[in-house]
Parts: sequence; C-alpha cells; structure tokens
Amino acid sequence: MSQPTIESILQEKRLFQPNPEFSQHAHIKSLDEYQQIYEKAKADPQAFWAELAETELDWFQKWDTVLDWQPPFAKWFVNGKINISHNCLDRHLTTWRKNKAALIWEGEPGDSRTLTYAQLHREVCQMANVFKQLGVQKGDRIGIYMPMIPEAAIAMLACARIGAAHTVIFGGFSAEALKDRLVDAQAKLVVTADGGFRKDTIVPLKPQVDKAIADNGAPSVENVLVVQRTKQQVNMEPGRDHWWHDLQAGASANCPPEPMDSEDMLFILYTSGTTGKPKGVVHTTGGYNLYSHITLKWAFDLQETDVYWCTADVGWITGHSYIVYGPLSNGATTLMYEGAPRASNPGCFWDVIEKHGVTIFYTAPTAIRAFIKMGEHHPKARNLASLRLLGTVGEPINPEAWMWYYRIIGGERCPIVDTWWQTETGGFMITPLPGATATKPGSATLPFPGILADIVDLDGNPVPHNEGGYLVVRHPWPGMMRTVYGDPDRFRRTYWEHIAPKDGQYLYFAGDGARCDEDGYFWVMGRVDDVVNVSGHRLGTMEVESALVSHPAVAEAAVVGKPDDLKGEDIVAFVTLEGNQKPSEELASALKQHVVKEIGAIARPGEIRFTDSLPKTRSGKIMRRLLRNLASGQELAGDTSTLEDRTVLDKLRGGA
Ligand code: PRX
Repeated sequence: MSQPTIESILQEKRLFQPNPEFSQHAHIKSLDEYQQIYEKAKADPQAFWAELAETELDWFQKWDTVLDWQPPFAKWFVNGKINISHNCLDRHLTTWRKNKAALIWEGEPGDSRTLTYAQLHREVCQMANVFKQLGVQKGDRIGIYMPMIPEAAIAMLACARIGAAHTVIFGGFSAEALKDRLVDAQAKLVVTADGGFRKDTIVPLKPQVDKAIADNGAPSVENVLVVQRTKQQVNMEPGRDHWWHDLQAGASANCPPEPMDSEDMLFILYTSGTTGKPKGVVHTTGGYNLYSHITLKWAFDLQETDVYWCTADVGWITGHSYIVYGPLSNGATTLMYEGAPRASNPGCFWDVIEKHGVTIFYTAPTAIRAFIKMGEHHPKARNLASLRLLGTVGEPINPEAWMWYYRIIGGERCPIVDTWWQTETGGFMITPLPGATATKPGSATLPFPGILADIVDLDGNPVPHNEGGYLVVRHPWPGMMRTVYGDPDRFRRTYWEHIAPKDGQYLYFAGDGARCDEDGYFWVMGRVDDVVNVSGHRLGTMEVESALVSHPAVAEAAVVGKPDDLKGEDIVAFVTLEGNQKPSEELASALKQHVVKEIGAIARPGEIRFTDSLPKTRSGKIMRRLLRNLASGQELAGDTSTLEDRTVLDKLRGGA
C-alpha cells in the first residue's frame, strides 16, 4: 500500500431525484423501501439472502446451511444443488419466454443474429455435448479466447452446463498472456475463433492460440475448438484442432444440466494485482448466480420488455455478470456488439441503440469521454428515445462526463446508475437503485442491500464523514470471490490482511480509496495500491515492469499511472538501461511494442522515460509515489527523507 493518508478534493453538490413515474413502476420504489430492505438485510444477512435464493432461483436440492464462514473463506448455500445454465435457460422454456429474444447480437460489419431462449438452449446443449465428446469432464477447466460473438456466451453456458469451469481470456491479450493463463488454469480445451472484426480490421485469434500452445507451451491443452467468423485462412492441426460448425452438426441437442454443488467452481477470471503474476479469481456457482441475478434486477430495474445492452467484453467480469449470467438468469433480452466506435462510424453505438430499441445502456466513463470528444452531433442524429436507464462502471466518473451522459444520451430523462464493484465482488456493491436513490454526479451512492460497506483507516477504525480512507466490506456476500486459484494464501494476504481484523471481524479490502459524505454517499477515489486503471482496465504496475525487464536492453523499470483526459490513467514507464544501451526514440517504441507482445495492446505504455537510476528507499524499494508526482508534472509532495540517493530526483526532474 502506498498512501498512508488519502486526500479527497472532489466536492459535488448537484442532486438528481428519481423520476416519480419511473419509481412507480420500479422494483424498489422509494428510498424508504430501500432503507427497509437494507436494514432487514443488515439485521439478518443470512435470512435475507436465503429468502432471495429461494424466490429468485431454481434449486435441484435445497441447501442445509446458508453461510459457512471460516474467515476469509466463505461457503454459501452449503450442499445446495444448482446449475446456472438451467437458471439461465431451461427454466424459461416452460414459460412464455421460450420464444423471447435471449441474445441479440450485432456484428461489426453489420450482420446480426437473434437467438430466442429455445434456440440458445439448443446451441448450448449441442456444445455441451461437443465438449464431452472432446473428453471434457466435470471439474475440468476450459479456456475461452473469443471475439464478441454469440458463441462466446454459448461456450460459457456450455461449460456451466456440464460443470467444467471456464476461464475467459480477453481477446486483446497477447499469446504470452494467454499462455500464462492457460497454464495456470491447466485448461484442457481452448475455444477460440479464426478472428473477429474490430475497428474495421480483423483481429486474428487462432494464430495467437497456436503461438501460446506451440512447443508444448501449455501442455494441458488437448483440443482446440475454432469458430469460423472471419473466414481467414488458419492453421488447423489434425487431431487437435476442430471446427465448431463441424462438431456442432453432429451433436445432439439433448444434454441435461449437471447438478452442481453450490460451491463448485463456475469460473476463474484472471485479474491484475500488485505482483507480476495475475491472479485467478475464483467464483462458484450458487452464490454467484444469485448475486449477479438480483443486483442486475434491482439496480438496473430490469423489466420483461427491456432490451439491455452492456458494452463490455465477455473477457472481463462485467461481461460475465452483466452480459451473460445476470441478464439470462432474469430471462431478459441481452444485446452483444462485436465492434467499437471507429473512424468510419463514430456513431455506431447510437445506431445499435436505434436499430434494436435499446432501453438500458451500460458503458464505461472512458467510453463516455471518447463520445464527448467525437461530438454530440453523432448521438443527436439518432433517435435514442427508447433509452430509459443508463449505467456506468470501471472507474470514477468525472461529473462533467456524468452530466454529458445525462443530457445528451439520456435526454435528461434516464437515471444514471454508477455501479462500483470489482472482479472479486462478482456484482454491484455500491450503486443507486434507480427508483429509490437520488443521484449525485460522480458518486456510486449507497451500498446494495446486504453489503455492509465502510470507510476505515489502516487499523480498521471508521473515519469521519468526508475524510478519505479505505473502502472495505464487513460481512461476506454471496457473489464474493472464494479464493485465488491454487493459492489460498495469496487470497488471504491480498484482501484480508492489509486492514487489521477489528474485534474479531475480518474486513474485505481490495485496493480502493474512498470517502463517505454526510448523506452516507460513497465517493470512490481510485486505487491506492500499485494498480493503474487504463480505460477501465486494471493493470498491475508490476506486471508491466516484469514485461519491460524481460527485454534484453532493460536493467530496471518502474511503472506508474498519470492522469489522462481520455483513458482516466495512462502508463508512464521509467526505465534504466543495461550499460551497453543508449536511449533512443527507436528503443522507446521497441519497448512499447515489447509490452504489447508480452501482455497486449491495453498495457502499451503511453510514455517511456529513460533514466540513469530510480528513486529508492535505503531498503531498495522503488518510491513510486515520487515517480507518480513526476509523471503527472506535480510538485514532489510528502516525505523524501527515506530516499537513498537524493541526486536521483534532480536528475529525473531534469528529464533524464
Ligand atoms: O478501482 C475500482 C474501479 O475498478 C476497479 C475494479 O476493476 P475490475 O476488477 O477490472 O472491474 C471493473 C468492472 C467491475 C475497482 O477497484 N471501479 C470500478 N467501478 C467503479 C470504479 N471506480 C469508481 N467508480 C466505479 N463505478
């Protein structure tokens, strides 16, 4: 942890009351109702969650214990039997939803597809049978490395159906990053595509898989299943590589869902932390199903007729909880878009909203800032009247972006639901309930019922209103991560030991600083650990440093974030070179490219600064706080007395 005190400077006074007409039809209709539910959940969290689990989900067998809490390890709905693909598909088939659109998909080149619940069920069952035919068994892991096409969701649901855990690897990750994740998860099968369409180019995926598993790089991988999307020529290794459409053609559409234990692993999702190696966040079945379901239903006030679009990629937790599992478990219509705003069509998002009559739109502040730059004439040229609710996630939203979103996209009629949560939390933690909560631009507002959030100091003592501190959660919740895959000790160290347990109570802390105002509203200020948030994507500074140091010219590297108008934060890398190397523009670009190769384009440093040495403490720890000040052009604040060599700072200031 790098900051002993956290200073909060944002003061935002505007307040937006829920629209009475919206509230009237909402699931949660007033602040009073929210407060009642919140208090009830606080008084008896287990009874609260048990009642929801009973009413909102189908169980093959009921649990016998709601929560088994051996801090920091939680088990929810112990001995309950459930299958999330059953809750997302089968249970809707016996209702009128059978022929309702489950998934509306829009490809970037303009092709589109709609799958009803019955059709999606059929394809999921077929793929589940294909997986079995390829030797996948309950408990195995499957890597999914896909563009944003329906088959990505189908593959996830097919895994869940047979009890194999998926690990979805974002399609923008490099072959190296893919390999690390496949190896850590010991994936038996990789599901991929020849490539995908994004920003008017073809993003090749199968060649990256080939690279990742070449020379026995990921020895656990036995088979590769390839969706034909772009029709580019790809290498198909006989016996190992199979076309999705070939195997689907011969597969039965009858595949009953495997009754899973509530605590069986549903998926692993890798996320960055403070060490060089990404951690595999483990989510399990029953609690995650309930949590992604109910948070979406209440916070986005999901109604039967909604067309709901979340612009995230399935490779991130937002795609898992709020493109696939949450919406489908609720029987909603979820929209998936392959492409991104691009020079040839900066207004493509607004086209999609108009074409499909999207009612709920969920995106990230970095995207909103990009829309502002592109100009309001794009959204204004489209009919966005179908929208009734807007959501945001990924980083603190600056009030100007919030106001623009509210005025230009929402037509001053749509509530904005700013959802604070993390890969680790499985679903929304702090969020308005749009029929109940008045919103303040820039605040994620109040905790979801059942979530006991607080702001504390390092000793676990609550801090007064409007004073910065560490955002913690006091009681386990069903959607929480269960462990770090293969490393329970790291789970304990990372999330439960930074803040001392207080009066025997463990506090969950995952790295954000925040303050709470006099109305109890939470204002998240950002990460306080060695994690940068670039365009809403979490990157560990150590990860980027390891990538840089793996280049032969680099002796040492220190990576920090600096504020960026568009991306929120950008990466600045301070690099010292091996003795025989000279700084140059070419070397700087080569190093950026090297990071792209090691991790992926999302981690490309915006700036490389060569330096003779890095500021370190006497014990050899790099003083990133000083580098952060330097990178953002600020005065060097705080204590520098622990610095080993004071001349280093002068050299760095001089732009060495
Ligand atoms: O710093 C917080 C920021 O994103 C981090 C979680 O990143 P990740 O696990 O990749 O999940 C992103 C999508 C859930 C948090 O620790 N963050 C996320 N949402 C918000 C946010 N910061 C402020 N406001 C938010 N609404």
